[in-house]
Amino acid sequence: MNPKTFKIKSFGCQMNVYDGERMAELLGAQGMSAAAGTDDADLVVFNTCHIREKAAEKAYSDVGRLRREDGSKPLIALAGCVAQAEGAEAKRRSSMIDIVVGPQAYHRLPEMVAEAVRGARPVDTDMPAIAKFDAFPERRRANPSAFLTVQEGCDKFCTYCVVPYTRGAEISRPWNDIVAEAHALVAAGAREIVLLGQNVNAWTHDGRDFADLIRALATIDGLARIRYTTSHPADMTDALIAAHGEVEKLMPYLHLPVQSGSNRVLKAMNRSHSVETYLATIEKMRAARPDIAVSGDFIVGFPGETEADFDATLQIVDAVRYASAYSFKYSARPGTPAASMEDQIPRTVMDDRLQRLQARITENQMSFNRSKIGVDTQVLIERKGRHEGQMIGRSPWLQSVHVETAAQPGEIIDVTLVAAGPNSMTGAARQKAAA
Ligand code: 5AD
Ligand code: SF4
Repeated sequence: MNPKTFKIKSFGCQMNVYDGERMAELLGAQGMSAAAGTDDADLVVFNTCHIREKAAEKAYSDVGRLRREDGSKPLIALAGCVAQAEGAEAKRRSSMIDIVVGPQAYHRLPEMVAEAVRGARPVDTDMPAIAKFDAFPERRRANPSAFLTVQEGCDKFCTYCVVPYTRGAEISRPWNDIVAEAHALVAAGAREIVLLGQNVNAWTHDGRDFADLIRALATIDGLARIRYTTSHPADMTDALIAAHGEVEKLMPYLHLPVQSGSNRVLKAMNRSHSVETYLATIEKMRAARPDIAVSGDFIVGFPGETEADFDATLQIVDAVRYASAYSFKYSARPGTPAASMEDQIPRTVMDDRLQRLQARITENQMSFNRSKIGVDTQVLIERKGRHEGQMIGRSPWLQSVHVETAAQPGEIIDVTLVAAGPNSMTGAARQKAAA
């Protein structure tokens, strides 16, 4: 029987969230409708992440749980980076999986569903350039803050990372396609666009670079805010830094992963930046945009990381004064160079370092948030809060702000930030001056 309803569950990065939205639109265009949960879906798509070990294991155990009490199960598609990495092997690991579809093959999802209905178990992990974007229908719905993937893949080959293998080589979507999609998103209600790419600041097309793209998108009426993620320090050009000082709609927030504060470890990671060049970039950025909130990613326990290396990581957290940061225990990914390096770090050591790093990050996050108490700013309302009358939105610095207001999602309101927690702020709505 042809499936009538679907549920897509996305894990991992924002690019997966974006892909999940586009797959939903694609299935919607086939006449299928979204189910509330996996229990009442005829088709369940697991849009998986392969970046760390547990994520893949979780995907398989989630698939296992889809067996229903009466013994039946929905059609199951394994999508995303686990699908790309595992390929046909996924069907062997779980007999419940009907479809295996890699991140560059989503345009084929409807026909693969039809094949699965006929009893086949199709696998597609090809990587044709950009084909999937052309197949997606035009965007008709958008969140107040909407994702737009402009670039995919990675040529950097950090020694710990699977992304170059799962998402393929760096590739940029064409200028016109991006501009058209941005217009469609704004027409559909987006006030903010978050440009996405594994190396988004490496975007380039027909001699134009990422800073040119941002400046062009900033001219779209009705679009109030532009953000982007994730950036590689090596592609942080002067032009992009200058845009932060000049383009008002470009929000004062920069996610710039450093991974480690030790040059020895950075070299072993093949990061192509040093502590010094990274700090110089941050300094230039602060000169262009003094209030920029800097965020980052860290890996603790990379093979060979000594206590002195780790100490250097703690030091860079304080030197940068991160407004937020994500930190992870190193996870050996099969096929990556680091997985076969000597001196893998014991789990207990990683646990201890992660805890200390996170404490240091939280301190920095807290002091950044405290520094904003009393500041008059604007909040883009995104959704309802837990309490009656409370709404949650984002400050320009990407802080989550709780505020009592009648304003609805998509509205940008004037707010005074009045209290700070480690992960969010409280805001007080300011009355607009009478006209
Ligand atoms: N182990 C742990 N963390 C990793 N990341 C990427 N690969 C690994 C790995 N093998 C982290 C990096 C990256 C973020 C998206 O995930 O910090 O910036
Ligand atoms: Fe996970 Fe990276 Fe794939 Fe995103 S690109 S889903 S973070 S492995």
